[in-house]
This record gives sequence, C-alpha cells and structure tokens, in this order.
Amino acid sequence: MRLLQVAPAMPENAAPAIRADLLAGLSAAPATIAPKYLYDALGSRLFAAITELPEYYLTRTEAAIFAEHQDAMAAALGLSATLVDLGAGNCEKAARLFAALRVRRYVAVDISLHYLRESLENLQQKHPAIEMLGIGLDFSQSLRLPAEVGTEPRTLFYPGSSIGNFTPDEALVFLRQAHAECCGGSLLIGVDLVKPVDVLEAAYDDPLGVTAAFNRNLLRHLNRLAGTDFDITDWHHVAFFNGRESRIEMHLQALRDTTVRWAGGERRFAAAERIHTESSYKWRSEDFAALLESAGFLRPRHWCDARGWFAVFAAPA
Ligand code: AVJ
Repeated sequence: MRLLQVAPAMPENAAPAIRADLLAGLSAAPATIAPKYLYDALGSRLFAAITELPEYYLTRTEAAIFAEHQDAMAAALGLSATLVDLGAGNCEKAARLFAALRVRRYVAVDISLHYLRESLENLQQKHPAIEMLGIGLDFSQSLRLPAEVGTEPRTLFYPGSSIGNFTPDEALVFLRQAHAECCGGSLLIGVDLVKPVDVLEAAYDDPLGVTAAFNRNLLRHLNRLAGTDFDITDWHHVAFFNGRESRIEMHLQALRDTTVRWAGGERRFAAAERIHTESSYKWRSEDFAALLESAGFLRPRHWCDARGWFAVFAAPA
C-alpha cells in the first residue's frame, strides 16, 4: 500500500488561498460557500449519519442497484485491472465490487489522505493480492491523475451522486476529463434522479435535524479556516427543490440581523438573508445518458431501482 499527496490537503490553519476564496464567497451577493467545506472531521461523520437516515434514500438505493446488477455492470464496463475510486472515503463501496470487477489494482482518491490511510490499511489486510495506492487530491477543480497511476486503461468509479454538486456545464467538463483520464477504460457513476418533490425535500431536511447539523457545522469549520466569528445560533438550515434548475439547494439563513467579522473585513446579513452552501442536481436518466455521450463515452448503459429514484451508469470510453 502506498500513499501520495498531490495537492495540499485542507489544513486547520488554512492556506492564504483557501482563506481568500472563502472570504470572497462570503462577501459576494448572494453569499456562497463551496460544499467541499462541509467535510471537516465532524462534517464527514455527520454525512455518514445522513446516509443512515430513512429519508436519505440515495446511499441505500445505490447499494441495492450495485448488489443486484454488478455482474451486468462488469460485462458492460469491459475488463480493466485498475479501479480508480474518486472520493473514496472509507473505500467500502468500491470494496464490494472488487470481486465482480476482477480488480487487481485499487487507486483510492480523496481530498483527505488522513482519512484514507486507515481505510486502505484495513482493506489491504483483507485483500492482500490487490495492489493499493492512496492519493490525496482535490479533483473538484480539475481531474488530473498523477503519473503513479500508470497508463493502462482503468475504470473510474464515481458513486453516490457526487456529480450532483456540479452544474450541468461543470458536469460536462468533469466528464470530459474523466473520459480522458480513464485511458480507454470506462466510467461507473451513480446519479440521483428527479422524483416527487416531497421525497427530495425530506431527504435534505430530515425531521431529526442531522442534515441541519451537517449544514450548520460548515460555519464552525469556516470560523477555524477563515477566522470568522459566526454564531451558529444565528443561522438555520434551509433546503428546497428548485424545479427550474432541477436541483436541491441548501442554504444557511440568518434568523436575525447579524454581522460576521474577520481580520480585515466584515459582512452584514439582514434577517432572512442566506448563504448558499450546496446544490445537488437531480437528473433525468435520458439527459444524463446524453451528457455522457457529449463527453465522449460510447453507448452508456444504466440500471435503476424499481421506483426509478437512482441510476448507476456504466460507460465504456
Ligand atoms: C455527497 C453530494 C452526494 O448531494 O446528496 C447530503 C451531500 N448534502 N445531504 C448529496 C449531501 C446534504 C450529498 N452528496
């Protein structure tokens, strides 16, 4: 097992560039913070808790689709010995596919190498014959795999509907990069689909308040990264489906007039003003198939659950 840090991970005392990026987003109208900042140590655990919620159908629906159709997916993907897991986290989703996909090399990519180390050490014990490489890389800006990954065709694995954080234009750019980076291999990707609004909104505003905690925790992370003085109790979680854009939007909404200060600046928020923290796009399967084809993938196939809520696409290059 080898580990490789490609870009600097997000440190607790943020690099000036990260701090500048955050403060620019905070100062903009409307204020926006990128969703990757939801995932500090606590945020990652809160997201894991979200995936256990009865309302958050995505993770378990996708897992059921993989379990049922993994052999058909393997056939559709064609054989490539290397599986590249984009946003690997605890590596569990990929590990369940090792046998069906006949994986001989596993490359786990995640923004935090810290988290990957332990997951990969455990996984290597269970699968001693698979060569494993962990890469710390923020691929949300640009997907460029380092030379250590080699030049053989590989299957890129991008589950969980993480693609939903990209706008359709950004998704096309990302998929074109994925097409180039799979080196003639293939892509296996999970995509959340359009469905009744009440189902969507419950998944992002659960009655237990776990998603609200996940969203509001962003402000604590921001206070540490950018030296802001957000008072969490001034803010509440808002999530709704924007039908025109076909996306769930998450915001933090000010409960009262409040001013946020940091070294060298401040931002005043009027009561009910919002900070946009995440968009999660919902696709129609035919539109996503067309997007894959525009990105250069040939004949994408997909599998859905019986309700048609989630789709997994297998697309050879
Ligand atoms: C990890 C981006 C797929 O959009 O459903 C879950 C993140 N946000 N609840 C999603 C998330 C609020 C999740 N993704």
